Amino acid sequence: MKKVITYGTYDLLHYGHIRLLQRAKALGDYLIVGVTSDDFDISRGKINVQQSLMERIEAVRATGLADKIVIEQYEGQKIDDIQKYGVDIFTVGSDWVGVFDYLKEYCEVVYLDRTKGVSSTEIRSKENALRFGLVGDTDVINKFAIECRNVNGTEVTGYLSLNPMLGKEGLEGAAAYTSFEDLVHDCDALYIRSHPTKHYEQIKYALGQKKHVLYESPLTLNHAQAKELFEMADRNGCILYAGIKTAYSTAYARMILMAKTGKIGDIVSVDAVCTSLEDDLTKPEMQHVWNSITAWGPTAMLPVFQLLGTECVEKHIVSRLLPTGDDFDTFTKIDWTYPNAVASIKVGKGVKAEGQLIIGGTKGYIYVPAPWWKTDYFEVRFENPAHNKRFFYQLEGEGIRGMIASFVGSVTRNKLAYIREKVSLEIVRTMEEWHSGNFTRI
Ligand code: CTP
Repeated sequence: MKKVITYGTYDLLHYGHIRLLQRAKALGDYLIVGVTSDDFDISRGKINVQQSLMERIEAVRATGLADKIVIEQYEGQKIDDIQKYGVDIFTVGSDWVGVFDYLKEYCEVVYLDRTKGVSSTEIRSKENALRFGLVGDTDVINKFAIECRNVNGTEVTGYLSLNPMLGKEGLEGAAAYTSFEDLVHDCDALYIRSHPTKHYEQIKYALGQKKHVLYESPLTLNHAQAKELFEMADRNGCILYAGIKTAYSTAYARMILMAKTGKIGDIVSVDAVCTSLEDDLTKPEMQHVWNSITAWGPTAMLPVFQLLGTECVEKHIVSRLLPTGDDFDTFTKIDWTYPNAVASIKVGKGVKAEGQLIIGGTKGYIYVPAPWWKTDYFEVRFENPAHNKRFFYQLEGEGIRGMIASFVGSVTRNKLAYIREKVSLEIVRTMEEWHSGNFTRI
């Protein structure tokens, strides 16, 4: 019996896939189809596959062409599979010519002509092209636009920025707007990266026009306003999504899941540090720089609220302020006491410290080295170092790419937001406390 094997993602199964499978089957008597796992796709840069692994497997099964379906999970698995199943022929489409010649050592390799004019990428782009309008004054806008190119089904319609120094990188094909209302009118979704003092008015207007919003956290600096915006989004059927890019890195998300499954026992402490030393903060041109609590607070608070919840029994905030102004903290430390745990964050724009995240538990701890907010790596450590485990997950586009893909998933497929509403609201509540002067000065 001649065994044939082929691999693919098979997202939104189309005519090109079916023709490939038919010809693959005709090469022998028994066809094995490898369907890529979500993680494997992410690691090779395919991040907005629309269907889940199970849906994709079901679609391949429904063709009736596969005698066996396997899941492809790791680099090099093709060699293992060929040997394990005694495969005679490996085949894929001609878009891969040459790439799999290394398999000739194990079996025959056949490249079949790719069907012209159809691909999953094209179907994804056509069905869901979400037009973004970008608002903000920093180069994060440029990075966002660049990353949109890596998420099919999105395009940047235009942007609004008050910063004349903002470069054009990534924004080449987008229109520069001077009116916020016009920008909102011309797009389906907004990425709002303006200062949080402007968020309430801008987001309220956008939601009123039934546009989806991805905002740079914090949502606002006022809890009542933030609640109102969430209610409005709900009423108008809009997605209101927190843009903390760290949350969308695979390593961070897996680390949180690992902590929640009890791998390190009960969680007793969470300590997060985020600092970035700026130039002389008293210089006039530094006025657009966000203060420490606004710039770093949401990121640092995220693991605290995601792991310990939002019901603390005590909170204490300490800040060091710029001599020139009461509203700029160069450093802030917040301590929380929970019924069974404690947490602390340290954030700074004028103070430097080791930017690590440590989650302490009754059986061990999780260590994420600096800069933990851009993490692709973490360790689970135990009393006996022989039991330590290290985890690595590729980080693409500083997390921005994953954030956009996740947002698009929410808009087009109603996927649940990764950052829950109550976490976002607790971040706002803490911001409000700080801005109302409820902290100790040092
Ligand atoms: N394929 C094909 N003809 C097409 C599209 C895909 O023969 N028009 C083949 C590929 O060469 C591969 C298999 O189908 O052998 C699975 O491809 P996959 O990457 O899942 O599909 P694409 O449509 O190419 O997906 P994407 O656009 O996400 O790359």
